[in-house]
Amino acid sequence: MKSSKLLLDQVSKEFGDGDTTVNVLDNISLDIKSGEFVAVVGPSGSGKSTFLSIAGALLSPTRGRIWMGDQEVTRLSAKKLNALRLNHIGFVFQSSNLIPYLAVRDQLLLIAKLAGQHGQEPQQRADDLLHRLGLSHRRFHYPESLSGGERQRVAIARAWMNNPELILADEPTASLDSERGRTVVQMLADEVKLRQKAAVMVTHDKRMLDLCDRIIYIEDGKLSEQRSPTLL
Ligand SMILES: Nc1ncnc2c1ncn2[C@@H]1O[C@H](COP(=O)(O)OP(=O)(O)OP(=O)(O)O)[C@@H](O)[C@H]1O
Ligand SMILES: [Mg+2]
Repeated sequence: MKSSKLLLDQVSKEFGDGDTTVNVLDNISLDIKSGEFVAVVGPSGSGKSTFLSIAGALLSPTRGRIWMGDQEVTRLSAKKLNALRLNHIGFVFQSSNLIPYLAVRDQLLLIAKLAGQHGQEPQQRADDLLHRLGLSHRRFHYPESLSGGERQRVAIARAWMNNPELILADEPTASLDSERGRTVVQMLADEVKLRQKAAVMVTHDKRMLDLCDRIIYIEDGKLSEQRSPTLL
């Protein structure tokens, strides 16, 4: 049997307290294995980004437990959580969240540096990723001078930089044209298959769903699974 990359056990997330409590995730469980590429779909405000933030250990659940491999994430200290995020998780945020004062290539190199990698290897990796994402000619540009789609591609390259076991992407193709969007999602799918990683992608773009192995639908705090994209 394949090993679990990400396991959520009866996870709930509530925001606010008292009269204003919002139950965004209500007792959800999910097991994502090595080699699986999972799409998350659902209406705006249904909790997709919240789910991804919890899966990526950026947000703690109100209740429930989370494992990544054989580590229980919900029991880790803040320091160990940082190390886990840095070394094992690649996150592409819904807004690209680039650092305004770093040029494109340096956004990628910073990730390597934080993980203690220096020298030629990370530089080559950065240049290779930028090439694959069609950004070589923008290597020394700052985020403010990039288009929305270029920023999004830098964010994708950056998420890849630390060679993560788990890639979490929040609408990574929202600002890309359909051809470029498909290329990027295909890259994700290939990486997951070739290297037995796992990826979870929130998307509104139904044309990408055929590249995914599983489709998780979120509504009213609950998850349901649909295997065939044609049913959506
Ligand atoms: N920090 C917060 N405090 C209070 N409520 C929050 C917080 N973050 C999210 N919410 C609420 O939780 C619900 C789910 O938000 P979330 O961002 O996860 O939705 P989404 O499915 O990603 O939506 P979209 O498709 O618009 O990006 C929303 O009603 C939102 O207002
Ligand atoms: Mg969202």
